[in-house]
This record gives sequence, C-alpha cells and structure tokens, in this order.
Amino acid sequence: MGLYQRYLLPRLVQCACGSPVVDRQRSKVVPQAQGEVLEIGFGSGLNLPHYRREQVTKLWALEPSAEMRALAAARVAASGLDLHWLDLPGEAVPLPDQSVDCVVMTYTLCTIPDTAAALAQVKRVLRPGGRLLFCEHGAAPDAEVRRWQDRLDGWWGRFAGGCHLNREIEPLIRSAGFRFDELQRAYLPKTPRFAGYNTWGIARVG
Ligand SMILES: C[S@@+](CC[C@H](N)C(=O)[O-])C[C@H]1O[C@@H](n2cnc3c(N)ncnc32)[C@H](O)[C@@H]1O
Repeated sequence: MGLYQRYLLPRLVQCACGSPVVDRQRSKVVPQAQGEVLEIGFGSGLNLPHYRREQVTKLWALEPSAEMRALAAARVAASGLDLHWLDLPGEAVPLPDQSVDCVVMTYTLCTIPDTAAALAQVKRVLRPGGRLLFCEHGAAPDAEVRRWQDRLDGWWGRFAGGCHLNREIEPLIRSAGFRFDELQRAYLPKTPRFAGYNTWGIARVG
C-alpha cells in the first residue's frame, strides 16, 4: 500500500465525511439505532456522537482499514458505548444469522466492491423485523449531473479509496430484498452536485 493510501487518504476521507452538512445527515438516521447494532464501514467513527447510548446495548464496528480504525480510536474511547471491532469487509460479516437489531451504513455503499454480497450479509444478520438505517451519496436524477458523475467516476475512485459517484442507491437496496419504511433524497447544500446527491432512510427485509 502506498503512502497516499496509508496516510493521506484516511485523513482526506475523514475530512470530507466530517463536514457540517454531512454531520446533519448522520443526525437524521443514526439516533434511530437501537439494541444490538452493526455498523458497516465504520470509518473514523464519525457516527459515534449520534448514537443514543441509552438505546444501544452493543455496537459491532466493522471496518477493514487499520488506518481508519486508528483514526477512530479517540472517538471510540470517548463514546461510552460497548463497542467491538470487526476487521473484515462487509461482504464477510463474521456474526451469526439473525443476531442484530439494526445495521447502520453511512457513505459506505459507494465504496464496498461487492454491494450485493454486503447487502446479503445485512439481510442474513438482521433479526426478523430488524432495520437497515442508511445514508449514502450516489447517482443523481439530473441528466447533466449524471453525465459528470459517469465521466469522473474512474478518476474519482482512484483518488477516493474506491468510492463510486454513480451508484443507484435505492435500486441497490431494493433489489437486495429490502422494502423501505422511510426514503428521502436530496442534493446536500454547499456540496458539489456530482458528489452531493444523498439517499437516506430505513429499510427492512421483506
Ligand atoms: C467514505 S468512507 C465512510 C466512512 C463512514 N461510514 C462514515 O460515514 O464516515 C467508506 C468506508 O468504507 C470502508 N470500506 C471499504 N471497503 C469496505 C468493505 N468491503 N466493507 C466494509 N467497509 C469498507 C472504508 O475503509 C471506509 O472507512
């Protein structure tokens, strides 16, 4: 792994994902997590301040990057949550079937190489009635923005750790066998439109 990937990229990702507008998106989904929770693509732990300690009994923090886990250390220590690391990718969640109440994914479906495999794992580990809480950026509805996303995607992925600009978030989740309890979409303010079209909500198996 090169110096860029090891040292600079985790900090750039943390910086981009730590903007106030993105933090506001986190506040719309993460506080709804309850019970035993799995967060996939935990990153540097930017969701931690949004978990309600009194409603989360255990948090499985799945993050394959050692550099991201290191960046999260101080937030984890300050969180007061019963947090347990999992260092495998989201395509191979090492938890038993039907063992968690909620899965949280924020700005991770853009990066996971095999989204179908990861969402199959989400389905597998959720208890009956369990919820997927998500917020992702992805393919924009406007043709001109979408053209730019398609043009930039390959270049962007090389510099942004494999992130894709043009994934169709709602169809991805729906085709994995989920239905939506809540679904919202919008361009984020103060964010370039090619990277700022967000889809967020709550999905259940069914
Ligand atoms: C854009 S960052 C978002 C981090 C965090 N979810 C957030 O909201 O700040 C994407 C994260 O997905 C992680 N990731 C990459 N490949 C993954 C995989 N196969 N399974 C799970 N996470 C993965 C990266 O290491 C990175 O931490």
